[in-house]
Amino acid sequence: MSTSESKPSQSLAALGVHSAEQVQSLFAEVRQQFDSQAGNVTDENSWKAFRDAWLARKSGVFTLVTDNWLKPASPDLKRSVGAALNELRKHVDSEIEAKRLSLAANAEGNAAAKDRVDLSLPGVIRPVGSPHLIRQVFQEIEDIFFSIGFSVAEGPEIETPYYNFEALNIPEHHPVRDDMDTFYLELPKGAPGPLLLRTHTSPVQIRTMEKRRPPIRVIIPGKVYRRDNPDATHSFMFHQIEGLAVDSSITFCDFTGTIDYFVKQFFGGNVKSRFRPSYFPFTEPSVEFDASCVFCGGSGTAGSGNTCSKCKGSGWIELFGAGMVDPTVYKFVGYDPKKVSGFAFGIGIDRLAMLKHGIDDIQVFFQNDVRFLRQFP
Ligand code: FA5
Repeated sequence: MSTSESKPSQSLAALGVHSAEQVQSLFAEVRQQFDSQAGNVTDENSWKAFRDAWLARKSGVFTLVTDNWLKPASPDLKRSVGAALNELRKHVDSEIEAKRLSLAANAEGNAAAKDRVDLSLPGVIRPVGSPHLIRQVFQEIEDIFFSIGFSVAEGPEIETPYYNFEALNIPEHHPVRDDMDTFYLELPKGAPGPLLLRTHTSPVQIRTMEKRRPPIRVIIPGKVYRRDNPDATHSFMFHQIEGLAVDSSITFCDFTGTIDYFVKQFFGGNVKSRFRPSYFPFTEPSVEFDASCVFCGGSGTAGSGNTCSKCKGSGWIELFGAGMVDPTVYKFVGYDPKKVSGFAFGIGIDRLAMLKHGIDDIQVFFQNDVRFLRQFP
């Protein structure tokens, strides 16, 4: 017995088909076989195999039927075989095309579903950062000095001893160098040196005066480095803002007025300020500048009735060093000390930020703990 699938390989005579009715039922069988195979086509690959099985020129069902049934058919049967074959071909062609279209539509639908944007889903939250508190304090101080005519100058963090010390009237073996235990750079043999990490922003005073003639009104923000052991108020890297004003007739009154304006703008009108005599080789006279303690209101007594731990009961907190520029310094930059005068100051930004925001450990600025940073958005 022949299976329906093997029938196209045999002749009509071998299949015992001799009448138009038998031809009809034979083609009906083939069509049923086609329809049932069409049900198994689920993707592009199975569709291609299905199409080739029926339409391939070399061994597709249609080629076999043409070669084995139509061509050798007796003149009596040829007409009905031809008609049935045409009808089957129409059915097969249209079904194979319909299958192709439905597979393509499905694929498109799947891709569209994959790419679909669900507008009801919550968005991706990208955390927005904010400037570090030190940067915010820099900005605040810069804005205050901009409002009274100062501009910003900058200089390198790697310095020569000449700019960091000598030109500031701190010759070699001067005891003041001991206060600034310094990081010297290890340089390759033969390289010009020595070089060091600047211990303060004051060298930029010299660099600015070398480049410009008075009048000068600049502030110089930046990082500085000292071999200080870390504790609650010391870090080996910290920040300063230097100030320098030089003109033909700047007096000590201009200096105190400027500083007083700055302190009131920065801390508020209730804070009092005072000067104490001090010593820096590059200013004469030199002062330390204090503000009344912002924690106890200058009383020296904390809210609990105990001695204020921040000012240690004195009611004053030291803010920074300053003074009138020493005439010796002008000689290093080619200014005539008889024709110019000016003042300079160097503010430790980290300690200023601690004071203003009630922070009791300088180290938190450099630990990058977001719980701390987020308190100053
Ligand atoms: C100086 O650095 C001078 N150049 C300041 C100056 C400039 C005086 C212009 C006169 C004219 P001093 O060593 O005191 O001065 O440092 C200035 C400030 O830096 C201090 O008041 C303090 O706030 C801060 N500071 C000093 N050492 C450290 C440290 N290790 N960690 C954090 N802050 C520090």
